[in-house]
Amino acid sequence: MAKNQIDLNNKLVYLIITGASRGIGKELAIETSKNFKTGSTVVLLARSKEGLENTKKVINETNKNVEVIIKSIDLTKPSVEELDEIINNSFDASKNYDLTMIIHNVGTLGDISKWSNDMNDYNELEQYFSTNVFAPVILNNRLLKVIPKSMKTFIVNITSKAALHAFKSFGFYCMGKAAREMYFKMIAEEFKDLLVLNYSPGPVESDMTVYAQNASISEETSGMFKQLRNEGTILTTAMTTKRFLEVVAAGKYNSGDHMLKSSNFHQSFLFLTKLAYKNRITIPVFVCVAFLVCNFRWEIEISIQTERLQVQANNSDQEDIDLTDDDSDNSDDEYEPVSTDDELTDI
Ligand SMILES: NC(=O)c1ccc[n+]([C@@H]2O[C@H](COP(=O)([O-])OP(=O)(O)OC[C@H]3O[C@@H](n4cnc5c(N)ncnc54)[C@H](OP(=O)(O)O)[C@@H]3O)[C@@H](O)[C@H]2O)c1
Repeated sequence: MAKNQIDLNNKLVYLIITGASRGIGKELAIETSKNFKTGSTVVLLARSKEGLENTKKVINETNKNVEVIIKSIDLTKPSVEELDEIINNSFDASKNYDLTMIIHNVGTLGDISKWSNDMNDYNELEQYFSTNVFAPVILNNRLLKVIPKSMKTFIVNITSKAALHAFKSFGFYCMGKAAREMYFKMIAEEFKDLLVLNYSPGPVESDMTVYAQNASISEETSGMFKQLRNEGTILTTAMTTKRFLEVVAAGKYNSGDHMLKSSNFHQSFLFLTKLAYKNRITIPVFVCVAFLVCNFRWEIEISIQTERLQVQANNSDQEDIDLTDDDSDNSDDEYEPVSTDDELTDI
């Protein structure tokens, strides 16, 4: 059994998830809490009350035994008091939860209509970092303050490949994701009793990627999302959530690791689809040329065979004539069929 395996089935869980009104966060909230034990608590945070109510409704349709608390909050610069209030009003220490879990999912792309060298506004940068880095840091701090040390605690940061790789026009996003991921790596390093997972969901169909495709100043970046959509290789929120739950259940990572669970089948499928799309002109041309070449070869073979048969027929006619004209001197000669090799050499 891998040391970091987490079984979410029939467990009494306290879960907080940010950005739960739509997109990946909504799906994560619904699927993660599906099999929680009666009495578990799920806290959903985002700005849109309507979106949160909708997520709550779906959760309760799937698992009516969990208590879902929604709080409409702007995580751009939440006050410590506001966050404390949310936690204190939902976390019931007397419940002795089997697991406390927090999923830091909230995320924005920032202004992608300009290059990194054109960032010149302190307020804009501060606001971006506040939502995407500072708010998760503070929320994490406030939650850990109330969780008893003995309670199993699982912290999930929804990260991105952008934490490791620079995508043109994603200056805010890449800087933010890198800083945020490093914070969670720090937590994992300093607190060995906590389990931390940096889960990278892969490219997913959501408002975020629609915006990325439509608003990026970089043709390369917008083209990348366009291509993913055209190829049909962009993931759905359901697909990435399924992978997330597989990673959690398997536990084959070290606390703080950046994880993108990839099923081999899925990867091969993606690879083949991409290959087919990239070669959508080359492959049919190649198949046609191969067909023509084979056809041509067959025609040559057929001609050879036909001529061979004619030669054989001529030879047997000759033999007949010879036999007819047989004289007694050759009466002991054996009749020798013409060998195929001889025939070919002859041709
Ligand atoms: N989609 C992808 O391809 C992809 C790839 C890698 C990583 N990710 C990461 O996955 C996470 C979710 O992305 P997504 O694609 O699902 O994005 P999304 O569809 O844009 O959803 C973002 C969520 O964050 C909430 N949010 C945004 N600003 C907020 C604020 N100021 N205060 C409170 N809540 C706020 C939104 O709710 P409200 O608008 O109601 O507040 C929404 O629930 C992000 O961290 C993203 O970086 C996504």
